[in-house]
Amino acid sequence: MKSDCETGDTFAARVVAWQREHGRCDLPWQQTRDAYRIWLSEIMLQQTQVVTVLRYYPRFVDAFPDVGALAAAPLSRVLELWSGLGYYRRAHHLHAAARSVVDRFNGRFPVDAANLITLPGIGRSTAAAIAAFASNERGAILDGNVKRVLARHRGIDGWPGEPRVEALLWRAADALLPKCEDIATYTQGMMDVGATICTRSRPRCERCPVAVDCVARRDARIDELPAPRPRKALPRREVAVLLIEHDRRILLERRPDTGVWPGLLGLPELPIDADIAAAVTARFGRPPVAMQRLPRLTHAFTHFVLDMQPVRVVLNAHSPHVAQPSIEWLSAVGASRAAVPAPVRTLLLALRRCHDINRSDAMMPSCARPSGSTTSSSNG
Ligand code: ADE
Repeated sequence: MKSDCETGDTFAARVVAWQREHGRCDLPWQQTRDAYRIWLSEIMLQQTQVVTVLRYYPRFVDAFPDVGALAAAPLSRVLELWSGLGYYRRAHHLHAAARSVVDRFNGRFPVDAANLITLPGIGRSTAAAIAAFASNERGAILDGNVKRVLARHRGIDGWPGEPRVEALLWRAADALLPKCEDIATYTQGMMDVGATICTRSRPRCERCPVAVDCVARRDARIDELPAPRPRKALPRREVAVLLIEHDRRILLERRPDTGVWPGLLGLPELPIDADIAAAVTARFGRPPVAMQRLPRLTHAFTHFVLDMQPVRVVLNAHSPHVAQPSIEWLSAVGASRAAVPAPVRTLLLALRRCHDINRSDAMMPSCARPSGSTTSSSNG
């Protein structure tokens, strides 16, 4: 008897047939059944687009070809390679999960959802996706793109972040799973229909394999579904961030493991109304020889907006050089290559341009406006 993937009329059969003909099949993580490499790609893809992951994934695999190599690496090296991808909690989980696989599974990466879900950073959907790709295990996925496909196809109202709505979506995802063997193709098909056909704006319904019985299309509600997150104004936090220069080096501080940008190198922060000259004098034993405000920069996190007032602070080259384990004095080039969050990198690049413009000027040159100094909406 033919399985439903071959009869060509169920939802799953249409997705599988579409995937075989039109879906993506040449991405690097699709060329392997190695659960470790599949897991790496799925974690990177959780909040990041394929085009960006394509730049980071090969560097990661080169640096850490297997789970043992990742577990043995210092967290700072992992953060360095993750730098710029954003959502840094993922990098911490990645490292912790690798160590857990070495300790608990003897270095053999699990291929079943029940074990995968016990690892840090792996939820139900990611566990099912890895298990489908690595061992063809049958299980539903529900990432952001798939939520959109199902909310429209089944006509499910409400914001998918709401537990009640999410439960309905899981029920739909489970009910639509194919009975046939090819769960990996179906899983990739759902991801690809969501990413390339059933897009948030201007979906390509005329090319969609499941358009004929799509409730949102029938009811002309494509633009309404899925319902957006209910709007509430995000709180704003204002801080002064210090670009402290001493002897042509910039001070970077290791951030704590909790809070935003955990474990990354960052710039010292002060309350927006702090007396910066006094704080710097207290910390370094001498007052700054020059200070300059740079244009403000804002950065939107999921729960608040950070409004940064960068201030360049130049210490006399003969001031005592303060050394502490949590701080690093880096050259402008070294600092802009370090594991720093995206807005800090923007500031460091602007500072590097100032140095280039004013190469011959020892102290406080005029400074070009940092590019991208207005807003950034990622969490990187
Ligand atoms: N998004 C999440 N997982 C993906 C995958 N395996 N391929 C493409 N996009 C994805």
